[in-house]
Amino acid sequence: MKGIVFTEFLDMVEEKFSDDIVDTIIDASDLSTDGAYTAVGTYSHTEMLQLVTHLAKETDIEVPALVEVFGHYLFQRFTKIYPMFFADVDNSFDFLQTVENHIHVEVKKLYPDAELPTFETKMLNDNTLELIYISKRPFQNLAEGMIKECGIYYKENIELEVEDNSTDEGMNVRFLITKH
Ligand code: HEM
Repeated sequence: MKGIVFTEFLDMVEEKFSDDIVDTIIDASDLSTDGAYTAVGTYSHTEMLQLVTHLAKETDIEVPALVEVFGHYLFQRFTKIYPMFFADVDNSFDFLQTVENHIHVEVKKLYPDAELPTFETKMLNDNTLELIYISKRPFQNLAEGMIKECGIYYKENIELEVEDNSTDEGMNVRFLITKH
């Protein structure tokens, strides 16, 4: 997992919780870097899972909810760090359909060692987009937070239905996104 995800995560913990909690979760986790992540470095995604598990213990908020909150935070940050991906898109369905074939492709060019999920998208009707998250890593709640924040960013009223079809082979989570 790219360092930018870790640096943004720790920034979020500092902003929403405290400096002390950042130190506590870093100390409690077995990390390759003692928490000194660089944006361009690459680290095991299991370090993220450790950090978030310790954050859950510190805050009494469950891991899935914390990862989803991070999805909201990360999406907001991406709108600032990567404005070019938003420049020509004026609604969430169009945006979400660019992630697989455009945004994550560019991310991969920028960071060849990025480990990205696969998204299969299909418009079911004018108001419904199906998006399937496929990955070896369990970050479906990150996707959920990002999708919801995407709706907020485009000032739309969207609703999510989530169907988890994951197996031992990997994650497969179907999001049915309806616009009202
Ligand atoms: C400007 C928009 C976006 C940028 C720049 C971006 C960039 C990235 C980067 C750098 C990573 C980390 C890759 C790695 O750790 O090696 C990542 C992973 C991920 N992205 Fe995106 N992304 C964007 C939009 C989205 C959106 C809208 C979604 C949700 C639908 C999404 C879902 C995810 C998920 C769930 C992961 C981690 C998944 C995994 O490891 O399975 N991304 N993205």
